[in-house]
Amino acid sequence: MKTLKKILFWSLIVFAMIQFIPTDKVNPPVDRKVNFTDVRKTPAKIQGMLKGACYDCHSNETVYPKYAYIAPISWSVKSHVNEGREHLNFSAWGTYNKDLKESMLNKAVQTIQNKTMPMPGYIVYHKEANLSDAERALLVKYFDEMLKSGSY
Ligand code: HEC
Repeated sequence: MKTLKKILFWSLIVFAMIQFIPTDKVNPPVDRKVNFTDVRKTPAKIQGMLKGACYDCHSNETVYPKYAYIAPISWSVKSHVNEGREHLNFSAWGTYNKDLKESMLNKAVQTIQNKTMPMPGYIVYHKEANLSDAERALLVKYFDEMLKSGSY
């Protein structure tokens, strides 16, 4: 029993201490001239889905939920945001070359269809990201039409 109490005590101390390790939650500035939804003049419905389901990890407009302020969850959230932005940052869309845009559109279609995006763990805490099959189909159609028209 004594050992258990000690473990509990030190766990609490460690938990309290790690709260002081900061994570950077300041969003980089958004340039409307290169931001996907501005450049593309994306219709409101599609824009709502992108902002609600993708923009938290794939743009500079991340809205951090309350739990993102508690370590060690905060570290996991921040690493997803960093990694997400590295792969695809809608806020930097206008700076991508045509090949990269094409590849991202294709990958977006794939990941939405096979339901690897939005990340399943994220959907649990973000109802608006839990896209129905019909909503997924709309998003896929939007990206597909861009690909077909070649205007990206
Ligand atoms: C909770 C964070 C999060 C959300 C929300 C999210 N993604 Fe991702 N996404 C990631 C991470 C992290 C990666 C990189 C690792 C991986 O591929 O799993 C990624 C990778 C991708 C890739 C692959 C890029 C490449 O280079 O292979 C595409 C495309 C993508 N996401 C599209 C989307 C779309 C479209 C949405 C919304 C419908 C979305 N994601 C929502 C975190 C997220």
